[in-house]
Amino acid sequence: MQNATTMNRGDASRARRFPRGARVTVEALAGDPYPLFHELRAAEPVTWVPELGMWMLTRRDDIVEVLADWQRFTTDAPASTIRDIFGSHMLTTDGEPQIRYKRRFIGPFRRGNLERNLLGTVRAVLDGLMEELEDGRRRAADLRARLARPLSVRSICRVLGLPERDGARLLAWYDDFAAALENFTGDPGVRRAGKAAAREFGEYVTPFLRGKRPVPAGSTIAGLRADAEPLAEAEMVANLLIILFGGIETTESAIASAIWAALTHRTASRPAADDPGRLDDVFEESLRWDAAVQSCTRFTTEPVEIRGVRIPANETVQCMLGAANRDPAHFDDPDRFDPDRANARDHLSFGAGRHFCLGATLARIEAREALARVFRLPGLRLDPERPSRPHGHEFRAPPGVWVVWG
Ligand code: HEM
Repeated sequence: MQNATTMNRGDASRARRFPRGARVTVEALAGDPYPLFHELRAAEPVTWVPELGMWMLTRRDDIVEVLADWQRFTTDAPASTIRDIFGSHMLTTDGEPQIRYKRRFIGPFRRGNLERNLLGTVRAVLDGLMEELEDGRRRAADLRARLARPLSVRSICRVLGLPERDGARLLAWYDDFAAALENFTGDPGVRRAGKAAAREFGEYVTPFLRGKRPVPAGSTIAGLRADAEPLAEAEMVANLLIILFGGIETTESAIASAIWAALTHRTASRPAADDPGRLDDVFEESLRWDAAVQSCTRFTTEPVEIRGVRIPANETVQCMLGAANRDPAHFDDPDRFDPDRANARDHLSFGAGRHFCLGATLARIEAREALARVFRLPGLRLDPERPSRPHGHEFRAPPGVWVVWG
């Protein structure tokens, strides 16, 4: 996830030293980045990308090392857009402050608690969504919009403790957040809209935090209310915002990508709907094959050296998870989509180190349940009339997954 400010230090000497990096464009990264990643990994594994104003890493080993080294590679940057819009939270702090935040939120996201408190909701939501799909006269749908999105919004509402019917409101704010977090050119109107959305979310959620509106037992907000050493309200709101932001499009994208990948590579990999282990294999391999979050961004706190390349303090390093996941030093024949791959789970698609994704188990539970339903549709296939391909440099997924069945 990017929480960077883009610095424009694309000076000529760096461009000369890193000629391949100098040719990298956001457009190429958003289209099919994998040939580019292979080239960089082999020839310029630590490179400078003037178009982004950032250093870029593509080898899995280097990325694992950087993500483990929070003292020298921090998420805590004074001018980060995520902090500007949301305030201080677990993804813009490191060391003690991050631990203080994160430990208060981990409980509801543990597998046992999710299975107890959330699985019923996920199943009920899917029952409703599948009924709507199967009721229609046309046996055709965009499964991203009709299934993956509503499932991820309603699930996150349930884990936080917010009414599911408020999902549409949350989605409306979401677009303003997303624009503001990608506002690297500093457009004041976009920033204002992002801040206004964050403020409105704060006003909406405060009555729940203060006990003026009910929340279900076991939910995140119930835990915050019962905390013996409570965070300040602004800290609670900022962390709820990053959870909300981190949990909607990511999960929606990952489920959409998994369905797309399984249907695209259908001969080898169409999952058996009643075999949860097989569904998990498909999901993990699709996370590896095309990560929904393509990068983790860090800031150097001191001068560092990676593979002989010196990077000064206060610069931005983008760790390309999609590149790590296709590193041939770790994954055999990495471009092949293969749910039987023994080490698919070594992907870095949920990050690594102290900022490892809080919602990884939640996403896995939602995906398993969603794939089980979807692959029960008889004769399910991608709609040849509405082709779609994965796209995106930061957040990556097919814009829609149009399928037909029957
Ligand atoms: C398949 C879906 C998901 C993917 C691919 C994903 C990916 C990631 C990645 C790569 C990071 C690390 C960011 C970094 O270190 O810079 C991360 C962190 C995070 N994710 Fe997820 N995520 C997903 C689902 C979720 C869900 C459902 C939630 C909601 C609970 C969530 C909440 C978070 C939070 C709060 C963090 C920051 C954790 C910290 O700073 O310690 N994510 N996620």
